[in-house]
Amino acid sequence: MDNPISTSDKKLNGKIAIITGGASGIGEATVRLFVRHGAKVVIADIQEEKGRSVAESIGSGHCTFIKCDVTDEHQVQSLIKSTVEIYSRVDIMFSNAGIASSNEHEQDILGFNLDALDNLFAINVRGSVACVKHAAKAMVEGGVKGKIICTASVAATMGVTKQIDYAMSKHAILGLVKSASKGLGKYGIRVNCVSPAAVATPLLEKSMKMNGEEIDKLFESFNCLKNGAIKATNVADAVLFLASDDSQFVTGHNLVVDGGFHPPM
Ligand SMILES: NC(=O)c1ccc[n+]([C@@H]2O[C@H](COP(=O)([O-])OP(=O)(O)OC[C@H]3O[C@@H](n4cnc5c(N)ncnc54)[C@H](O)[C@@H]3O)[C@@H](O)[C@H]2O)c1
Repeated sequence: MDNPISTSDKKLNGKIAIITGGASGIGEATVRLFVRHGAKVVIADIQEEKGRSVAESIGSGHCTFIKCDVTDEHQVQSLIKSTVEIYSRVDIMFSNAGIASSNEHEQDILGFNLDALDNLFAINVRGSVACVKHAAKAMVEGGVKGKIICTASVAATMGVTKQIDYAMSKHAILGLVKSASKGLGKYGIRVNCVSPAAVATPLLEKSMKMNGEEIDKLFESFNCLKNGAIKATNVADAVLFLASDDSQFVTGHNLVVDGGFHPPM
């Protein structure tokens, strides 16, 4: 169990946050960290059982689950509406839900499957746009100088030979964040993203068909920084920085959390 944080050290006291993909991995670690820092968090995810169990383990006074498929704009709209009805506003949107490339296709350029790209873009790109758009609308309407954070990836700034659709989707997140930060600056709303290197979560375990230990070992060897493997909690720390007043003048920024990721080329 984590040590309690004193009220004066809490960075998100009384803030209302929505975390998409909050039922698992990086999202779940961020839910737990935000609650420790005094926020009330809405987990938005398609995994109902897992999402409810995370919320219950934290307690209904601090965390609730709302089922939401981010590919459906109406569901995203309804998520924001319900959050405003329950808590009166949205201070923080962490748009984090995402998937890896399909295991059925390598997604190299010669064998590229366009239907798989459509499916992946519907979640990673369209879903993120819907979350940023509707959270920002609620912030503007409520006069909230909110914080929006998206999850991009180290793949957002590099070319790849396989899983090109995933890298493309994360490049799109950078475009979204940089552009939205320009349009929303006049409302005092900051928009940023985090870009993790590999973290052993269910997404990567499924995609690489490896267990957490194997993933940690493999990717640790690619990091210049010899501090062990990157964990979901390390990414959550970066998200907390971007969601808190510690980053008051940071907007349109891509905060890389990669331990100096340097894979052999
Ligand atoms: N794990 C990594 O190595 C890594 C590295 C860089 C970026 N990322 C990104 O981090 C984010 C979180 O991934 P993770 O690694 O924690 O994986 P994860 O699978 O543990 O969590 C992703 C969550 O998103 C949810 N989700 C998927 N589709 C959804 C939809 N349509 N609507 C709502 N929720 C949906 C899943 O149910 C799951 O709970 C993703 O955007 C991913 O691309 C992960």
